[in-house]
Amino acid sequence: MASEEESVSLPTRQRRNKQQLTKGMEHMRGYVTIDTPQAAGEDAYGVPATYEPIRKAATDSQDNPQKRSDPFQFGTRYLEEGDDIFAHNAWDHVEVDPQYSEFIEQQTIFQRENQVSDFDKKRFSDKPEKWWDRFYGNNQANFFKDRKWLVQEFPILGEVTRDDYGPVKVLEVGAGAGNTAFPILAMNQNPHLKLHACDYSKKAIDIIREQPTYQNQTSSTLQADVWDVAGSELPPGVEAGSVDVVLMIFIFSALSPDQWPTAVSNLFKLLKPGGEILFRDYGRGDLAQVRFKKGRYLDENFYVRGDGTRVYFFEEDELRDIWGGRSPSDGTVVVTEDEHGTASHDSFDIVNLAVDRRMLVNRQRKLKMYRCWMQGRFRKPQTDRTQPAQVP
Ligand SMILES: C[S@@+](CC[C@H](N)C(=O)[O-])C[C@H]1O[C@@H](n2cnc3c(N)ncnc32)[C@H](O)[C@@H]1O
Repeated sequence: MASEEESVSLPTRQRRNKQQLTKGMEHMRGYVTIDTPQAAGEDAYGVPATYEPIRKAATDSQDNPQKRSDPFQFGTRYLEEGDDIFAHNAWDHVEVDPQYSEFIEQQTIFQRENQVSDFDKKRFSDKPEKWWDRFYGNNQANFFKDRKWLVQEFPILGEVTRDDYGPVKVLEVGAGAGNTAFPILAMNQNPHLKLHACDYSKKAIDIIREQPTYQNQTSSTLQADVWDVAGSELPPGVEAGSVDVVLMIFIFSALSPDQWPTAVSNLFKLLKPGGEILFRDYGRGDLAQVRFKKGRYLDENFYVRGDGTRVYFFEEDELRDIWGGRSPSDGTVVVTEDEHGTASHDSFDIVNLAVDRRMLVNRQRKLKMYRCWMQGRFRKPQTDRTQPAQVP
């Protein structure tokens, strides 16, 4: 059977071996794959491989099908006393031990003491989209990742792509090269689905538009446009109050904290009452954060990668504040003004928000990598019943 990866026509570019990926691709690989950092016995990205995770008490888990089957189901494989860490590729909800937490603390102090110069802070923040343009320009490699987890984690996406679902508008923000949009398009059976894929990198949008799958659409289900979620305009062809579902996959972390309120306000404006944001992004203490070395720290939990792109690592309460319309620093109510000077307080209901902690294991090289992602659904309150969103 053709894999999901083969069933879409993206990319048309040459595949490269893992070892041959350019340096700039490294961080993209990190959140969807099990990486192979260094030689056997060495540390993973400077994180000592000897740290031991906390285990739960042993159960009769020998009979637990999640420990026997592969591929595993998210969220159900717990590391218990007596389990061989290297028997599986990943363990769910793994808590790091105090020794590792201490290591994170030390590493953070080191990063803070060796921060980016003021000159470079300005350089990386002035026109952040140009660094992403460069990223997509440099990486003529395989952008497509296996996104089978999308529908598993966000069942709404399965619903809205059903043939009998009816008219529905989905907006993907920070769509990049279409790693999420194309799989959705490939599984779509709904003739009334409209999928807007937006990104502020023109280069990324060009890549989407160049794909035969995009160009050969008969019903123009997918429309890709350049748009800055933290800018002063709405996306081309998308009206206020017209969107049912917003998809944000590892994009909010690319914004600087001072852009959060505008981005939240824009999305609030775009969504129908009852419409939802599907969110997944980096969590505090993720390996990607811990491994940053000298000259990468921009601000607390905010870094610049080697390729000039920026990344923030979130705490659960912080996200509850941001999407709930409060300032994460002092809890005060955030009020934003649009270009006409109209003030609004944009507060989403947190339908759910969870920390996804996993330990990924490189079985061959016997390495353990602690990953931490945040995942949630944020709903615009149902105040206006005249035009409810099509969210199941
Ligand atoms: C880490 S990539 C993720 C891409 C894609 N969502 C994925 O999962 O493959 C972050 C993307 O967000 C885009 N981005 C960053 N800031 C943005 C902004 N203010 N408005 C729109 N897109 C933005 C970048 O250009 C980049 O394509």
